[in-house]
Amino acid sequence: MAPNKPLQLIDRFGRVVNYLRVSITDRCDFRCVYCMAEDMEFLPRSQILSLEEIRTICQAFVELGVTKIRVTGGEPLVRKGALGLLREIGGMPGLRELVLTSNGSQLVEMAADLRAAGVKRLNISLDTLHPEKFRELTRTGNLQRVLDGLAAARAAGFERIKLNAVIMKHRNHDEVVDLVQFALDHGLDISFIEEMPLGVVDRHHRGESFYTSDEIRRDLSSRFSLQAIADNTGGPSAYYRVDGSASRVGFISPHSANFCGSCNRVRLTAEGRLLLCLGNEHSVDLKRVVREQPGDMAALKQAIVAAMQIKPEKHEFNIHEQPVILRHMNATGG
Ligand code: GTP
Ligand code: 5AD
Ligand code: SF4
Repeated sequence: MAPNKPLQLIDRFGRVVNYLRVSITDRCDFRCVYCMAEDMEFLPRSQILSLEEIRTICQAFVELGVTKIRVTGGEPLVRKGALGLLREIGGMPGLRELVLTSNGSQLVEMAADLRAAGVKRLNISLDTLHPEKFRELTRTGNLQRVLDGLAAARAAGFERIKLNAVIMKHRNHDEVVDLVQFALDHGLDISFIEEMPLGVVDRHHRGESFYTSDEIRRDLSSRFSLQAIADNTGGPSAYYRVDGSASRVGFISPHSANFCGSCNRVRLTAEGRLLLCLGNEHSVDLKRVVREQPGDMAALKQAIVAAMQIKPEKHEFNIHEQPVILRHMNATGG
């Protein structure tokens, strides 16, 4: 008899899906200008998956060959019970990496517990090092609290911590050198992200603020010598190393260097939609499956396997036009 082949999720384009991003809440204590509009309506409790339902869906994915789960939000750590859920996911046999994306606001209290729960790496959003600008960009955030959270995270011993900075012309593009220097000084990685047109925002014009990864690399070259490296964290960043340092500088360039051809990921939204691409609306309602057939793991897995057939080839983002996708980033956690 042929040896059992490990299970794999494969889409129509031959891409293996081994990375699940799970948004456990659409709520957030910040209102970042590129992510949300001023007035946001969040989902009512009854419409979001319970922690138990999320756990079950993650279990199904791991049994189908997913080796990396990233928990996101909104801000995942504002959901009650997040830590217990992380502990359960972290203990699933077959999962190689449990990682978390956070705005850093709760890390002073939670960093050590997150590490103990099995979270290996943390990605923390940080777009500016100026307190007033931080308040302007997040509308509600407090920079010092995030910096204190970052210090707590460094003390907690994560394998790596990466900063994420969304760069906008005339808002924070003049800070890229300082942000990299900050990452180097604190032993962190950093990724620069080109803003994506998801949902309507009201504080700036995304097309006019567009700042490319090439422009950032040019700005960085005035201070640093960057060498392209082959490191791959299983996400979309293309990495460089600053000569003489252990930190990596990544570029997430959905517009200027499309990475859809190597896409290995799908997303579970807080309301239980399995979203097959960040830049499209193709999805399958997994909440319905777990609520209509509770405990039926085979039905759930079948729905997930079938969903791979509708994973789109690529996104069609156009930063200069009104967004086609009306969902804001907080619905998917990036
Ligand atoms: P690691 O590589 O594991 O460190 O993480 P990551 O960069 O995949 O995750 P993170 O949550 O830090 O996301 C960083 C940015 O990448 C966010 O703005 C995401 O929206 C963006 N991103 C992640 N996956 C995709 C994708 O498939 N398509 C697009 N367009 N953007 C993505
Ligand atoms: N475009 C690009 N990145 C965004 N993020 C939130 N909204 C957007 C957007 N419209 C980033 C956050 C966080 C990551 C998960 O996604 O800053 O770091
Ligand atoms: Fe909250 Fe993250 Fe969106 Fe900022 S980017 S509002 S921290 S979900």
